[in-house]
Amino acid sequence: MNAPVKAHARFDVEAIRAEFPILSREVHGKPLVYLDNAASAQKPEAVIEAVANVWRGSYANVHRGLHTLANETTGAFEAARGKIACFVGAGSPDRIVLTRGATEAINLVAASFGQGLAEGDEIILSQMEHHSNIVPWHFLRERKGVIIKWAPVTEEGALDIEAYKTLFTSRTKLVALVHMSNVLGTLNPAEELTRIAHGHGVPILFDGSQAVVHGSVDVTAIGCDFYALTGHKLYGPNASGALYAKGDWLDRLPPFLGGGEMIAEVSEEGVVYAHAPHKFEAGTPAIADAIGLGASLDWMGARVTPEALAHEHALLDAATAGLDEMDGIRILGTAPGKGPILSFVVEGAHAHDLAQIMDRYGVAVRAGHHCAHPLMKRYGITASLRASFAIYNTHAEVDVFLDALRRARSFLI
Ligand SMILES: Cc1ncc(COP(=O)(O)O)c(C=O)c1O
Repeated sequence: MNAPVKAHARFDVEAIRAEFPILSREVHGKPLVYLDNAASAQKPEAVIEAVANVWRGSYANVHRGLHTLANETTGAFEAARGKIACFVGAGSPDRIVLTRGATEAINLVAASFGQGLAEGDEIILSQMEHHSNIVPWHFLRERKGVIIKWAPVTEEGALDIEAYKTLFTSRTKLVALVHMSNVLGTLNPAEELTRIAHGHGVPILFDGSQAVVHGSVDVTAIGCDFYALTGHKLYGPNASGALYAKGDWLDRLPPFLGGGEMIAEVSEEGVVYAHAPHKFEAGTPAIADAIGLGASLDWMGARVTPEALAHEHALLDAATAGLDEMDGIRILGTAPGKGPILSFVVEGAHAHDLAQIMDRYGVAVRAGHHCAHPLMKRYGITASLRASFAIYNTHAEVDVFLDALRRARSFLI
C-alpha cells in the first residue's frame, strides 16, 4: 500500500463535493457533516448515473441471453469484474468472484474451504476483526469442532506480531485477518503477515473492506490467498463486492451456493459445475450494483490521488489534535500509519447519547460496538464514538464535528 504523501494544493475538495448530490442537503436545519464513511460512503453522480443507466437503457439478465440487451448487460457486468481485478492487482478477472459484499466473500471461503476441515483443525483470527470475519469461522467451530485462535491487539491498537507467530501449530489451516481495522484504523502489515503464514504452509485471507478505500492495494504483491472487499465503502452501490482468490484456489474449492449460473450441466444423476469464477456465482447476481461498482472504481481512479489520500490524513490529524485538547477523551488506535478512522470514548458520557445530540448539529458519526465485540472487550468498553473521513470531507467539517462534540458533552456532563 502506498504511503500518503503531503497534502498538495492541487487537491480541490470543493470540486469533489460538487459531485455528491447528498452532501448539499441539510439535517435538522444544519448542513450535513457526514463522518460515517467507514460504515458506508456516499455516492457520486457518476455512480448514481451508471446504476440508473442500467435500469434505463441496457438491462437484461446476464450470461443467459442471445439478444442485444443480454449481451450488452453481460459485457458491462464482466467489464466490472475486470475493473475490480485491475483495482486490486489480481492479474486476471478469473480470480475475482462477484459477491454482495465482504461478508458474502468471507462466508464463501469459510463454507468452501471449511468443507475440508476436521475437528481440532485451527484457524487464526485477530481481536480486531469485524464480526463478518468472526461469525463465519464460529460456524465452523460450532459445526465441525474447528478451533479459533486469537492474535492479540496491543494497547496502541497494533496487531501483536510476536504473539501471532506463536499461534501456528501443525493443525493451523488458515489465517483470516483484517487489513485495516474499521475501529482502530490500524493498517496491518499484510505482506509480513502473509510471509509468516506461508512460512508455516498456511494460506491467508484478508478482509480488505477498509484498506482498499484509503490506499492502493496490490494483492499480487501481498501474496495473500484470498482478499475480500465491499463496494458500498468504495463510493459504490450496496450489495456489491468481490472475493479475490490467488492461483487455482477457485478451481480447487467446492462451490458455495447452488443454483442457476454456476453449472455447466445438471442431470437427474448429478451436476457438472461451471468454470471458476462462475462456479461461485449462483443465481441472478446484483447486476446493476456490480456495474455501479465498476463505475465507482473508474471514478476513484481519477479522484483518489495521493493528494486526496493526504487530504484524508490531514483531516484525521486535525480531528485527533482537537480531541487531544479536550479532557477525558480516550482515543482507540494510535498505531503509526493508521487510516482516517477515529474512534474514541468520552469519559462520563455514553457514545449513543453523544451521537444523538451531535446529529442535531448535522453531524453524522457512528456510535456503538462497530461490529467488533471482541475488540470492545479487549479495551474494556461496550461502545465508542467513531468519526471516519472520506476524500470529500473538509477541515471546516472537522471544526463543526469538534464543536458539536463539545456542546454534546457539556449538555450531558
Ligand atoms: C472491516 C470490515 N469488514 C467487513 C465489513 C462488512 O462489510 P459488508 O457488510 O459490506 O459485507 C465491514 C463493514 O463495516 C468492515 O468495516
